Amino acid sequence: MTLPQTVIITSVRDEAHNIRSITLDAAAPDAQPGQFIMVWLPGNDEKPMSITSPAPLTFTVARVGPFTTDLHQRKVGDYIGWRGPYGRGFALDQHRPALLVAGGCGVGPIYFLACVAQELGVPTTVALGARSDVVMPLQDAFRELAPSVELVLATDDGSLGHQGFITEVVRQHVVRERGIPPAIYACGPEGMLVTLHRMCVEMDLPGQFSLERYMKCGIGICGQCAVDGLLVCKDGPVFDVAQLDSVADFGRFRHSATGRRIPIR
Ligand SMILES: Cc1cc2nc3c(=O)[nH]c(=O)nc-3n(C[C@H](O)[C@H](O)[C@H](O)COP(=O)(O)OP(=O)(O)OC[C@H]3O[C@@H](n4cnc5c(N)ncnc54)[C@H](O)[C@@H]3O)c2cc1C
Ligand code: FES
Repeated sequence: MTLPQTVIITSVRDEAHNIRSITLDAAAPDAQPGQFIMVWLPGNDEKPMSITSPAPLTFTVARVGPFTTDLHQRKVGDYIGWRGPYGRGFALDQHRPALLVAGGCGVGPIYFLACVAQELGVPTTVALGARSDVVMPLQDAFRELAPSVELVLATDDGSLGHQGFITEVVRQHVVRERGIPPAIYACGPEGMLVTLHRMCVEMDLPGQFSLERYMKCGIGICGQCAVDGLLVCKDGPVFDVAQLDSVADFGRFRHSATGRRIPIR
């Protein structure tokens, strides 16, 4: 296990309403898209965050509760701790077009993957979904990857792009595709992942999905993140279609910090 390193924040950028990217005076050059770090705020807690960029090390955080509110109050020059990178990330198939799908704060690892796909010359479409325009982070960063990375957007309220779920856009894109069928890579709300997983099964597409479960150690010791015999922090957080076929809790249950089983709505 790597010990936490304490480093200064070198940049804080507002990406959307209540969503910020924080860059550290650190690098994780060997990190893979989809891997995460444990971010430590001494006196508060230590929590998982996906990597948006490995060098300099950047993560994109939504303010949802006490820890992320504290993170949002940190400024350039403040010290915070991190350790990692951890977990199994996305394995990019270089022989198929890539269809990258992100909902909400799932954009961080999808941005990292889009950058790698661009570098490797893999034809790539990024599909981003959010409730509305104001909560869709990293739009400009994705636009800067054009023209080699195509961007399609969907919002529930129609304020940007297609009105409706991003999964509808993804289905239309796959149906329209005339060449080699794409591989799907997704990160976001579990309901979205369940729909995409079903689509992969129905249409016989390869797919990889990043799951979130409550994490404490982040390195496979405590068992907090277990789902049907798999540890999300070590065997995941990215799982393929076949692995998720055997996870009965996928889309149904998660565990609270105290181990209580909670239905996923
Ligand atoms: C592998 C992984 C990668 C993640 N990447 C990001 C990211 O890039 N950006 C981002 O904004 N969020 C990310 N999250 C979620 C983030 O860890 C939680 O939003 C954060 O811990 C919430 O803490 P809080 O005190 O602000 O909110 P709380 O009010 O404590 O919780 C809000 C929600 O976050 C979940 N959560 C709280 N603590 C944890 C924990 N220790 N582990 C997992 N989930 C937790 C809760 O179950 C609840 O659903 C990731 C989670 C995982 C498992
Ligand atoms: S968080 Fe401890 S085993 Fe996964």
